Amino acid sequence: MSERVLPGHVAIVMDGNGRWAERRKLSRNLGHQAGLRALRRTARHGAKIGIKTLTVFAFSSENWNRPEKEVSRLMDLFMSALDKEMKGLYEHGVRMRFIGDRSAFHPALQERMQAAQELTAGNTRTQLNVAANYGGRWDILQAAQKLAAQAQAGDLDPAAIDEKSFGGALALHDTPDPDLFIRTGGEQRISNFLLWQSAYTEFYFSDKLWPDFNGEELDRAINAYQSRERRFGLTGEQLRARARAG
Ligand code: IPE
Ligand code: IPE
Ligand code: MG
Repeated sequence: MSERVLPGHVAIVMDGNGRWAERRKLSRNLGHQAGLRALRRTARHGAKIGIKTLTVFAFSSENWNRPEKEVSRLMDLFMSALDKEMKGLYEHGVRMRFIGDRSAFHPALQERMQAAQELTAGNTRTQLNVAANYGGRWDILQAAQKLAAQAQAGDLDPAAIDEKSFGGALALHDTPDPDLFIRTGGEQRISNFLLWQSAYTEFYFSDKLWPDFNGEELDRAINAYQSRERRFGLTGEQLRARARAG
């Protein structure tokens, strides 16, 4: 049976800002600014149609290796975005969370991230997770370190570590795995996003550059998702039998 329900959790690799700008003979920084506008309209549309959780890749652990000027412009953009967007996000019922190693950011940016999380902690309409200085391998490693420390302290039997307890030590521990993973910009790779969490996620690749993405494109991705059959290792016949049994 086809999956007709809305994906509860959508993850997006927002790629293509730089190329969008370069094609217009603009600085890459202007591409990132246009990317922020695309995030605002896509997140609003997602909330409107009832997507419960949106997780977006804003800055990877590898993006530090970009030219210093691009990195510092991006940091400025994160700061000003947090200052400008928080009130609107709060009023729209958005609960915000940052995932990734925040310790590498400037203390002032870390404070704003913390303040944003605290301000919106009580909101329940929709959850927006922003992955910043995030890497899927970092996430798995920090979970392994947490569990190893518990084992060393005698609080955890290593043999008792299972998928559930391991998943419980990851960044999105209290959030169901993404149902739909969208990557814009034409590349067909994960680039170290949610490695553990996307074991059974449906992938959708769009040639649109991220600054050109919008609600209509999100609907297109969701339509594609809804036409797929998620089998989780079972056969199609097993799924149909289950559906008949209700
Ligand atoms: C994604 O767009 C945004 C970040 C990685 C911060 P890019 O900046 O990677 O855009 P392209 O891939 O160079 O076009
Ligand atoms: C992935 O895009 C990271 C973000 C969108 C933040 P990249 O542009 O960094 O990925 P690669 O380098 O093309 O794999
Ligand atoms: Mg890119």
